[in-house]
Amino acid sequence: MAVSGKLRELLKGNRPILITGAHNPLSAKLVQEAGFDGIWASGFEISASFGVPDANFLTMSENLEVCEAMANGVEIPIVADCDNGYGNAINVIRTAREFEKAGIAAICIEDNIFPKRCSFYAGVQRELVPVEEHVGKIKAAQDARRSDDFLVIARTEALIAGWGQAEALKRATAYAQAGADAVLVHSKSKTFDELKEFASQWTLDTPLVAVPTIYAQTTASELHEHGFKIVIYANHGLRSCIKAMRETFTVLKDQQYAAAVDDRVVPLNDVFEIIGVSDLRANEKIYLPAGGEQVTSIILAAGYEKNLEPLISEKPKGMLDIKGKSILERQVGLLNDVGVKEVAVVRGYKKEMIDLPNVRYYDNDRYQEVGELVSLFTAEKELDGRVVLMYGDILFERSVLERLLKSSADIALVVDNTWSATAAKAPNGPPDLVHFSAPDAPGEKAIAKIGAKVPSDEAHGEFIGMAMFSARGSQQIKEAYARTLEEYKGKSFYESDSVEQGSFTDLIQRGIDDGLKVSAVEITKGWMEVDTFEDYQRAWARIKK
Ligand code: SPV
Ligand code: MG
Repeated sequence: MAVSGKLRELLKGNRPILITGAHNPLSAKLVQEAGFDGIWASGFEISASFGVPDANFLTMSENLEVCEAMANGVEIPIVADCDNGYGNAINVIRTAREFEKAGIAAICIEDNIFPKRCSFYAGVQRELVPVEEHVGKIKAAQDARRSDDFLVIARTEALIAGWGQAEALKRATAYAQAGADAVLVHSKSKTFDELKEFASQWTLDTPLVAVPTIYAQTTASELHEHGFKIVIYANHGLRSCIKAMRETFTVLKDQQYAAAVDDRVVPLNDVFEIIGVSDLRANEKIYLPAGGEQVTSIILAAGYEKNLEPLISEKPKGMLDIKGKSILERQVGLLNDVGVKEVAVVRGYKKEMIDLPNVRYYDNDRYQEVGELVSLFTAEKELDGRVVLMYGDILFERSVLERLLKSSADIALVVDNTWSATAAKAPNGPPDLVHFSAPDAPGEKAIAKIGAKVPSDEAHGEFIGMAMFSARGSQQIKEAYARTLEEYKGKSFYESDSVEQGSFTDLIQRGIDDGLKVSAVEITKGWMEVDTFEDYQRAWARIKK
């Protein structure tokens, strides 16, 4: 059922409807959490929350904005305190339409003149509009509504203004006969007697509403017994806030350390729960690419490759210029473009030549003796949270990176499935080939074998030198490496002579053999590596400015 319909439904029931005041979406959520039937969007509370008197200082649109925000945050009906309707009957037409459109279940309009004064302010001028004028407002609101589920509550301040029972009864009757769905009769008497007397004379079917702020000892069931169908606790949320904040601030000012008020405040997690941070987290997983979370990239650019001489006699491969930008600059630029701003580069050969801004550097000074695994773990500190790993000699299209970032796997490797057997005869040795455990399975395939020694007739693709680890995946990679260092001490390590010489793919194969799930993010071209002089020439030809 629509939220607004709930209130009309409740009116058909045989128990008091309990409604409590709120002044913003947070307090509205707390009213809902406490199990009340509805929320009173109190003019008293909303005005006070803006730090101004309840005297029509806030405009209709200011109140409406608060009410709409509340309605967006709760599933129980909201009764909006619309004061005097913010003008005459003509203004009320718009008031009713706007509040109904905002998802409010009912509006309450009182017979105070404009501008109003809160019912409890002593010693202020108090005047009511003529009964006919208020009847006009009630009719206007009724006629303006689009749905019968939107209720119009008429309120009389006759008892508050001291105009007596007869006037109160006359007004309440006139408003009910004008079509009000309920009539609120307000009283500032210290006991329920005044309203009890009023109720005893009420013969119409139109339900009555009570706001027991001053006659505060009266229970809801007592009110109900005497004919009040709706009971509104109008301002207790706001007043409890003031008391709690005042006490907390006093202690804080006095003690000057935050833990001094620990017993007066809810834990942060409590706040997170109320405002739906768990939903936010879940929605991030569903709707955001993984790039939405903080991602760190580690680029391995330490190596020296003899067959690129003399091209790299002055600078490392990553700094080779291709149409005005180096390979590394292009990589960092694309990473930044997709939101990866934390970039770490592992340098080695000609490290002083790598000096891009906004990048953290790690130096593998033993780059000549050790393999890329040691380079990776030179930057171990960065292997925390979500990490994109890439070799410093690949050029790729932005879409490749975007695709990888969308993967939800803990360990994902980018695999080009257009790999051809001719590539195996590359001058720099065979590429890292990949064999899937179930090549026909839907979605991201699981990698069973990886490395230069995977037989080319078994290969389903080529690892391009780009991978991503979730926070869990980063942890798994670190653990796998730590175990490897122990177990393979002094031994050859998969396709390498030792762990020190080891490649990233050796560690991945080791992980897979150990039960780690490694997924492939498949692409079809869109990348190239620069391994030879011919590659470099091809890069120049292919890359646009
Ligand atoms: C309000 O909460 O704004 C009300 C109820 O109108 S009272 O303050 O008691 O008038
Ligand atoms: Mg009010």
